[in-house]
Amino acid sequence: MPRAVSLDLSSIWLFSTCSAKELRTVRRALDEVRAPAGTVLCEEGTVGREFFFIVDGRASVKRGGRKIAGLEPGAYFGELALLDRKPRSATVVADTDMVLLTMSQRVFTALLEEVPPLGRKLLAAMSERLRAADSKVTALISH
Ligand code: CMP
Repeated sequence: MPRAVSLDLSSIWLFSTCSAKELRTVRRALDEVRAPAGTVLCEEGTVGREFFFIVDGRASVKRGGRKIAGLEPGAYFGELALLDRKPRSATVVADTDMVLLTMSQRVFTALLEEVPPLGRKLLAAMSERLRAADSKVTALISH
C-alpha cells in the first residue's frame, strides 16, 4: 500500500532547484513504497512503467546478469524507459530492504511538463553518465 511522502524533498539533489510550489506538486506525485531485499524492481528488456527514487537501502544495476553499478540513497532509476519508451536497459535488484519513492509513467510525464527544473536535473545527470561512458570507451579503445 503506497504511503504519503514525509521526506524533506528540498534537501534532495534531484529536487533541490524546485520552487516551494513545484515541490508540493512533486510531493503529490510520489508514493512511498517498501521493498524487501531481493526484490526485482526493474527487469531488463521489459516494458517500463515506473520511476524510482531511493530513500533508504541499496540496489544493484545488472546488465546481462553482470553488475554494472550500485545505487544508494539519493539515487534514482527507471527514468530511461519512461523517457524513450523502449524496454528497460538493465535489471535493478534490491540488495537490502528498501524505502523508495515511485511514480507511474503517466505521472512522471506530466511532472516533467509541470516542473521544468526536474527535467533539467535529469538531463544533467544523464550528461554526466554519458561523459563517464564515453571516457570508459575511449580508455578501452586506446589500449
Ligand atoms: P531503465 O532503462 O528504465 O531501467 C533500468 C534502469 O537502470 C535505467 O532506466 C537506469 O535508470 C538504470 N541504469 C542503467 N544503466 C545504468 C548505469 N550504468 N548506472 C546507473 N544506473 C543505470
